[in-house]
Amino acid sequence: MRSKNTDSFFPNSWYRVATSAELLAKKVIPLHYFGKDLVLFHTETGIPCILDAHCPHLGAHLGYGGKVKDKTIRCPYHGWLWDHQGYCAGIPYSEKVPQVKIANYPVMEVNGLILMYHHQRDESPTWKIPQLAEYDSKQWTPLRLVRKWIAHTDLRNYLDNSVDVSHLYQVHSQTFKAAKSDVVEIDGPVLTHKMSQKYNLSSLSSGGLISEDGSVTTTYYGVGYDVSFYRTKGTLELSLLQIFTGTPIDNNRLEIQIFFSVKKALPSPLNQLLALMLRKDTVTTFEQDIPILENKIYPSHPLLLEEDGPIGQCRRWASQFYQ
Ligand code: FES
Ligand SMILES: [Fe+2]
Repeated sequence: MRSKNTDSFFPNSWYRVATSAELLAKKVIPLHYFGKDLVLFHTETGIPCILDAHCPHLGAHLGYGGKVKDKTIRCPYHGWLWDHQGYCAGIPYSEKVPQVKIANYPVMEVNGLILMYHHQRDESPTWKIPQLAEYDSKQWTPLRLVRKWIAHTDLRNYLDNSVDVSHLYQVHSQTFKAAKSDVVEIDGPVLTHKMSQKYNLSSLSSGGLISEDGSVTTTYYGVGYDVSFYRTKGTLELSLLQIFTGTPIDNNRLEIQIFFSVKKALPSPLNQLLALMLRKDTVTTFEQDIPILENKIYPSHPLLLEEDGPIGQCRRWASQFYQ
């Protein structure tokens, strides 16, 4: 049995580090993830970039007072310019341009999120996170942040919890009456898990308008980003989309942000009400998990039953990101 928080290895994966809206509003954002100080900025040509935060000249943090100038970021201390790949692009008081480079990291922008690729040996990504058709669809409410949490846990425990089927009706009985894992499909860095669930919709389902029977399909793209589609059956079909993102701050802290969108199945005010209810339920549900995650250990040989869901299978799939 291995206790948690002893692992200094952050898995190789894409991770959410900001939203597109935050970056547009601020242009330069100091970040601290994977135990490192970083700076995220958006060049005037619209490219999001991430560099190590500290200027090699005399160590200033580019994220605090750095300014975007064309394709570069200007250090707040002596004004040295650094381009989007981290190369020195000019010094305001010298003709010399030293051949120095700040470490840079792969960045992508998709579904309203800015994602950074972290690799233990700085290798380039061989896969990307796909665009969601629902993201720009008029049939779905705009994707919004539910809430942000910083939890004292790590990605291994977080992922176990995500595919853990029996805890759904044990811990979250206000939402789930039953749950069953139907199928797991694995395609390289992508794992898809389909479940059938019986929701606890007592007030909503009266009259049989909404059925309590539903399904959820969760697709994991690496270990820091997954997309779930929840659907209920019945005359009125409710569909909810959630994106869960977990980004390690350091060995002991994981920053979790959940985003959601609902399919506009009802007239506008009712849709908003439904979205609010589902959002509240997401908060309640996830906050029930936090004290468990923060105090549990990570057994390497857990005593798993079939009803617990594909925890072992998911761990084997996830091991590819720890190589
Ligand atoms: S510390 Fe950045 S220009 Fe001097
Ligand atoms: Fe949970």
